Amino acid sequence: MADHVLDVLISENEIKLRTAELAQQILASYQGQDLILVGILKGSLYFLADLSRHFPPSIEIDFIQVSSYRGGKSSTGVVQIRKDLDINIEGRDVLIVEDVVDTGTTLLHLLELLQTRRPNSIKVATLLSKRQAKNVDINVDFVGFEIEDEFVVGYGLDFGERYRSLPFISILRNLPSASE
Ligand code: IMP
Ligand code: MG
Repeated sequence: MADHVLDVLISENEIKLRTAELAQQILASYQGQDLILVGILKGSLYFLADLSRHFPPSIEIDFIQVSSYRGGKSSTGVVQIRKDLDINIEGRDVLIVEDVVDTGTTLLHLLELLQTRRPNSIKVATLLSKRQAKNVDINVDFVGFEIEDEFVVGYGLDFGERYRSLPFISILRNLPSASE
């Protein structure tokens, strides 16, 4: 495998501080309602784990897995459910936890699907949001960091399943062109 260059974009400590802030903001907006955190696998793994530890122990956690990417860097626009929720969300307050909102396509389709299950409310928290990239109109309620339109890895985010376990967010450079 070619050597990729990893530039640190957001440090471990910055993530930690921002996650704590975001958790307080989220808690304040719910005023004691019983929440279900829905992590989008696999990228939200670390963010959900760290975020959830700021919440009361009564919160429920579930996961959904969708695929809109086929191992490369660009979105196909096709969203497929690979693992559905276990919890019935009807009448419940749902907070979707995402790693990065890029084009917004994944989230748009997921929100449409989950709305059909008649939850009381759905909000979205994302660790990262790319400034330029949205080509659909979606509302993201809680954003950790706005970033430029670069391909990033670490803290759950992968490139071809690698780099998820890095404790910080990095920009991946020198990508093999076959991944486009
Ligand atoms: P969207 O549908 O274009 O918004 O893409 C969202 C999904 O694409 C995320 O949940 C990630 O899994 C993946 N993705 C988008 N940008 C990046 C990136 O920079 N690094 C790693 N994964 C990414
Ligand atoms: Mg993802």
